[in-house]
Amino acid sequence: MELVDAPHSKCGTFGFVGSSPTAPICLMNTYQRLPLKLVRGKGCWVWDQEGNKYLDAIAGIATCSLGHSHRKLFKVLNKQLRKIQHVSNLFLIPEQEDLAQWLVDKSCADSVFFCNSGAEANEAAIKLARKFAHIKKGIENPIILSAKSSFHGRTLAALSATGQKKYHKNFEPLVPGFEFFSFNSLKSFQALQGKLEKDLSRISAVLIEPIQGEGGIFPGDKAFFHFLRDFCTKHKILLIFDEVQSGMGRTGKLWAHEHLQVEPDAFTLAKGLGGGHAIGALLVKECANLFEPGDHASTFGGNPFACKAALTVAKEIESKNLLKNITSRGEQIRQGLENIANDYSNHFNEVRGIGLMQGLVIKEESFLSSQDITKQALKEGLLIVGAGPKVIRIVPPLIIKKKEVNQLIFRLDKSIKSLI
Ligand SMILES: Cc1ncc(COP(=O)(O)O)c(C=O)c1O
Repeated sequence: MELVDAPHSKCGTFGFVGSSPTAPICLMNTYQRLPLKLVRGKGCWVWDQEGNKYLDAIAGIATCSLGHSHRKLFKVLNKQLRKIQHVSNLFLIPEQEDLAQWLVDKSCADSVFFCNSGAEANEAAIKLARKFAHIKKGIENPIILSAKSSFHGRTLAALSATGQKKYHKNFEPLVPGFEFFSFNSLKSFQALQGKLEKDLSRISAVLIEPIQGEGGIFPGDKAFFHFLRDFCTKHKILLIFDEVQSGMGRTGKLWAHEHLQVEPDAFTLAKGLGGGHAIGALLVKECANLFEPGDHASTFGGNPFACKAALTVAKEIESKNLLKNITSRGEQIRQGLENIANDYSNHFNEVRGIGLMQGLVIKEESFLSSQDITKQALKEGLLIVGAGPKVIRIVPPLIIKKKEVNQLIFRLDKSIKSLI
């Protein structure tokens, strides 16, 4: 591995050229970064320091809902900065109330708690599930059921709820009280019930993504989710959906659980909610509205700036009829990916996903990996990201246009062709 001078002289150390090429060592080595510095963006396009242009089908990993440098977002936030940026939750915050009202009006929820990220929203949900168990069910040591191959975040409880061992390694002991079943598998769920036997009464919640993102873009099965709803209702267990990646329109409906026609008792949001600004939320129905003053809090959660960003995203989704765009562009992407899967059928299995959350699945036996394709796509001016080693994830801004989707498919096809 070759050592080069770090670009930021104050760091005074070295960057690496090779497998992890760019970051100076004054940054902790927590990300495998691509060798690219993005310095500007407009709509679905971003530019690097050298002026090279890329079509952004990552969008901050399903986060920049309105793309980059969105005019309305810029205008509204500029005004908000001049007005007021941060106020403690010790006071009433009108922007927070407006956003909560919009979320409640548009969902099955009755109230909202705001935080700053997906992991935090899930932490709040986990605490809520525990309080529900203590207060409503008299359970001292509750259990939350979660799915294998799920992803719920990197804070310790969210990590413990995440059903992928690779994320747990070296961080044990995990937070106790989580048990796992295979996603969409009734058989596995029943086997877990059998395993829990006497402890069945300890179950306080089922926490699940309606469409798994990081785990490989797996849409939930309608029958399985209906079973979960009935099971939870029957046993007075909270059904909590993690919509951190799938929520706020990404799948062509505001909430991915609408596709499943199953209502949760609570659900979490982050990523696309603020269109690139840090905000997360836990939304609950009245039956789960158990937090009281002192139970939970966040210094930055629900600040006027972040709430105004989310309100702008919300209003753009409505006024620009973005759900319709997401559905049609999603179908266009799906068709394009299916053509690729057919053209290179030795390498690809299938296409999975809903709306603008699509995955192209690489065959296990293919020598291709999502990382190979991602790197090659960079050379073709396309930003894509893996969802695990064998799935290419396509999660562009919700404003993506027909012509841009054509470009996306063309560039992806070219990248794959040059690798095989
Ligand atoms: C479904 C889901 N939940 C939670 C998280 C964690 O969100 P954050 O990175 O904002 O903490 C993610 C992030 O990828 C996610 O996809």
